[in-house]
Amino acid sequence: MANGVKIDTVLIFKRALGLFFLRLKMKTKHIRKVLLCEPSHFSVDYVINPWMKIGSINKTKATSQWKNLANTLTKLAIKIEIIKPAKGLPDMVFAADQALIKYKNLVLSNFHYPQRRREIKKYLPWFKKQNFKIYKLPKKCFFEGSGECVWYGDLLFVGTGFRNSTGVCKFLSVYLNVETKCLELINPKFYHLDTCLFPLNDTTAFYYPLAFSQKSQRVLKKLVKNLIPLADDEANNFAANSLVTDHRVIMQKGNKNFAVKLKDLGYKTVEVDVSEFMKSGGGIHCLVQTLEEEYA
Ligand code: ARG
Repeated sequence: MANGVKIDTVLIFKRALGLFFLRLKMKTKHIRKVLLCEPSHFSVDYVINPWMKIGSINKTKATSQWKNLANTLTKLAIKIEIIKPAKGLPDMVFAADQALIKYKNLVLSNFHYPQRRREIKKYLPWFKKQNFKIYKLPKKCFFEGSGECVWYGDLLFVGTGFRNSTGVCKFLSVYLNVETKCLELINPKFYHLDTCLFPLNDTTAFYYPLAFSQKSQRVLKKLVKNLIPLADDEANNFAANSLVTDHRVIMQKGNKNFAVKLKDLGYKTVEVDVSEFMKSGGGIHCLVQTLEEEYA
């Protein structure tokens, strides 16, 4: 018994030491500045994904959830820029979707659904003022920005199947001078890549297997060293739609197993509730456009 306790202590110590050195070796992402859009015109007025039900939003609740998310970001020393919302553009609040940004380069989105296309007219002048080098895709090449792209180290995963055109991968790799890998989405509930794939760092990513074609599941298994599947309930509670900064994960409230796994991997969790936005098919990651980040 006494020996058992000793072995346990040694194991725990070894594991903690291992995590410590792993953290030292890994590049840590720090989000420095983000863009948010106030939710004053947020609602569900049309249906373009299976989550959306017209008239389902409690506006007071949505506003307080959004403010809480903004406060959470501020507390983590993230600078916030805010773009004014426009009447008649209820999805403008999802600030991740209008562009993909890498350093000073920005690829402008080309929304698949006409309902969202006018958002670009509102965002473009704001982006221009920030002096980004702006790339515009050909008209017929659909693209939905950071909602459909996630970075895994220097590799850019790009979702296709619902919103992005398959041809967009080539354009992105040329414009941003990066390696891209297309992943085919097959489940309408997980229509954007940021709803089903969450890279935590250079070696680990969470994913919802049933959101991807068999071929894309194989691609992920080949490329991601530590690929962790999300259970149905957590995927449906937007676990993949999290944000990681400085060894902290800002995540949707109520995903207990996910939180435990993150803690085991050496991360702290910060839970927020964006349930009103989930009624439109969006979560934390969708509400935040990262403008500046650092890897140290
Ligand atoms: N209602 C919006 C749409 O369907 C939600 C967008 C959520 N954005 C995201 N990055 N997943 O377009």
